[in-house]
Amino acid sequence: MAKTTTRTFCFVLVMVLMGCCCSAKIYKVGDSKGWRTAKKGTYYEWARRKEFQVGDSLMFEYDGKVNDVTQVSSRFEYRFCNSLSPKAVYNTGHDVVTLTEPGYHFFITSNHSQCVAGHKIIVFVVHDHLIPPPPPPRKILPFEKDYKVGDSSEWRVPEESDFYSKWSEEKQFHVGDNLLFYYNDQVDDVLEINSDQLEFKSCDTNLISLTKPGIRYFITSKTGHCEAGLKLRVVVQPLSKSVPKKTQLSPFDRLIKWLHESFRPHPHH
Ligand SMILES: *[C@@H]1O[C@H](CO)[C@@H](O)[C@H](O)[C@H]1NC(C)=O
Repeated sequence: MAKTTTRTFCFVLVMVLMGCCCSAKIYKVGDSKGWRTAKKGTYYEWARRKEFQVGDSLMFEYDGKVNDVTQVSSRFEYRFCNSLSPKAVYNTGHDVVTLTEPGYHFFITSNHSQCVAGHKIIVFVVHDHLIPPPPPPRKILPFEKDYKVGDSSEWRVPEESDFYSKWSEEKQFHVGDNLLFYYNDQVDDVLEINSDQLEFKSCDTNLISLTKPGIRYFITSKTGHCEAGLKLRVVVQPLSKSVPKKTQLSPFDRLIKWLHESFRPHPHH
C-alpha cells in the first residue's frame, strides 16, 4: 500500500518535472539579427508576440567587444539606460539567460549610446501553467501597476469606437502606474496631447509612466484613426499614502475573542 503510494507520487513528480522541462523554450533574441542592432523597436517587435514562461531562456548573440547583456532591476534604469547597478551582467557574446521569475525583465547594453538608440528589451514572463502563481512580488512600489493598453486588442483602430473609453473608465489609474502601448508601428503611433496648449508630443517609447495626478490624452497621428476611436483618456489619481486599516478581525481572531469572552469566569460579588 505504502509502496504504491510512493510509486504514484514519483510518477506524478516525474510527469510534473518532464512537463516543466520539456516545455521550456530557448528564444534567440532578435532571431537572425541577434543582440546587435540598435534600431528602435526591433526588440520590442521581436518580444511582443511571444509568451515567455518561467523556465524559458533567452539566448543573446553579439560581439562582446562592443556590447553586453546588462540586466537591470527597474523600468527606470531600463528607460534611462542606467547600467550603474545592474542585477546581472553577461558578456561572453553568447549568453543564455534563464527566466526564473514571473514579471517584467529588463535587459540593456551597457554601451550607452547603443542603448539610447534602442538596443534594449523588456520581456514579460508569465508562470508556467503547471505552477500555481504566488502573489506577484512587488519590491519598490507596492502600488505600481502596469496596464497593457486595450489588453488583447492592443493599440489599434477598435471595432467599437468607444472601446478605449470603456477600457479606461473601468480602471483606476494612480501615480506610479505605467501604460504599455503595443501596436504595429507601420500603421500607428502614440502621441500625447497637452490639453492646455493643444500641443502634440510624440511618444518615442511604448511605455508611459504616470508620474503626476491629472488627465492625460493619447491619440495616433494616422488620419482617420483617432476619429474611429483610437484615442485614450486616462484619469490619474494621486497616490493615497494611507493604507486602509484592517478593522475586521480574521476568523481565527474572532474565534479566540469569542472563546475568551464566552468562557471568562463571571465575577462573583
Ligand atoms: C558602442 O557601440 C559603438 C557602435 O557599435 C561602438 O563603435 C563603440 O565602440 C561601443 N562602445 C563601447 C564602449 O564598447
